[in-house]
Amino acid sequence: MAGFIVAIDQGTTSTRAIVFDETYRVRGVGQQEFQQHFPRSGWVEHDPEEIWTSTVQTVRTALAEALISASDVAAIGITNQRETAVVWDRDTGKPIHNAVVWQDRRTAETCRRLLDDGLEALLIEKTGLLVDPYFSGTKVAWILDHVEGARARAEAGRLAFGTIDSFLLWRLTGGRVHACDATNAARTQLYDIGTGAWDDELCRLIKVPMAVLPEVRDCDADFGTTDPSLFGAAIPILGVAGDQHAAVIGQACFRPGMVKSTYGTGCFALINTGETRVASRSRLLTTLAYRLSGKTTYALEGSIFVAGAAVQWLRDGLGLVSRADETGPLAAEADEAQDVVMVPAFTGLGAPWWDPDARGAIFGLTRRTGPKEMARAALEAVCFQTHDLLSAMNRDWEGGEPTVLRVDGGMVASDWTMQRLADLLDAPVDRPVVLETTALGAAWLAGHKAGVWPDQEGFAGSWRRESRFEPAMPAVERGRRLTLWSDAVRRTLTRN
Ligand code: G3P
Repeated sequence: MAGFIVAIDQGTTSTRAIVFDETYRVRGVGQQEFQQHFPRSGWVEHDPEEIWTSTVQTVRTALAEALISASDVAAIGITNQRETAVVWDRDTGKPIHNAVVWQDRRTAETCRRLLDDGLEALLIEKTGLLVDPYFSGTKVAWILDHVEGARARAEAGRLAFGTIDSFLLWRLTGGRVHACDATNAARTQLYDIGTGAWDDELCRLIKVPMAVLPEVRDCDADFGTTDPSLFGAAIPILGVAGDQHAAVIGQACFRPGMVKSTYGTGCFALINTGETRVASRSRLLTTLAYRLSGKTTYALEGSIFVAGAAVQWLRDGLGLVSRADETGPLAAEADEAQDVVMVPAFTGLGAPWWDPDARGAIFGLTRRTGPKEMARAALEAVCFQTHDLLSAMNRDWEGGEPTVLRVDGGMVASDWTMQRLADLLDAPVDRPVVLETTALGAAWLAGHKAGVWPDQEGFAGSWRRESRFEPAMPAVERGRRLTLWSDAVRRTLTRN
């Protein structure tokens, strides 16, 4: 019976495929980490072929674990790391360069030029995004300028650009579909979020030929079917959304004022602003929450580049822990008398600072500082940054203060971190029962479209809270810690 839904969650450090049954239960999971390439300081690349093989293998693993075959699957939903740019040859399907990852800062100089040319207001007006190397457009231009002959081939229509959803769609459909969804398009800086179309002026300014661009579809559109040779039968692909947008859906943040924060490699907080496109006064991004059946719902977003990546650095870079989940218990034992503060600006600072040249710093080290204090500093940095994002949101959002934060992603499994988050926000933090929120969001898009799952309201009714963390830190201590943090950020910024 074809009632199962598969979500492909192609993230920054791993690819996952999850099989859900009709009752939203996880029946099979495939997961593969893949290699991160750091060719220079501030540069981050992925091998698109590795992304592709990990996608096929994880789907096969998940189907096998669920004891089902492709013909039992009603639909696939795709969600992905956003902004990461791939350019491939339309004839061979081969990428012409490694994927340039969202964290990559190599186009900082191009962005400075756009700012110097006075283009910031125009770019914000059309795209809702600030000028920063984070977004895909300047990365595409970089690839076209650094691979011999690429620009001419792009102009002749022989190359295709896509965010990861688009690259996977191309490969999954055997090269029949060159499309992306509206949320991914909204992160390229080439797409006008008001008109809902690629913008030729933006493409000209950022130097991306329109011939390389994919067709933009709704998140719940028909994206074609998988090539039968991949999984043994053709499976319809009926949902696509960038991972943070899928998490908004998976957390059922469907009403204006509802806010979620996802802790993956980075941390991304989005508040649903409904049909209103709110212009930020606090250097947040205006973006799409999602676009369903032609109707756009907007969001304000705060983006932090390093969250889980700081824990990964403690594990892989410093060897302080052997597993990421050891950091919470370690932090709980830290010496409260030591004020060690980490600003994890490994790849610059995102919202609300937007300083691509900043690099990480640790303050307050003493001879007594050890792994416990380092673990606390890494986890607390994520909480401090979320605090900065939510304060900015409160300033920008006039629909009333968002009161509860719904959280998801790997780091939220740590009770210590969630309690510290509630303490520093001075607001409750809700952790849901289903922590596979991003995958669930993508699965819902596909499952609803396939007629297996209910509409938004019905789906929202199934959202369940596992725990609520209530703020408990005395106001004086909270204020003291926030001051330590803002002082540390001030000392880290290169643009004061
Ligand atoms: O914008 C980048 C974001 O989509 C990556 O998310 O979960 O891989 O940190 P994540």
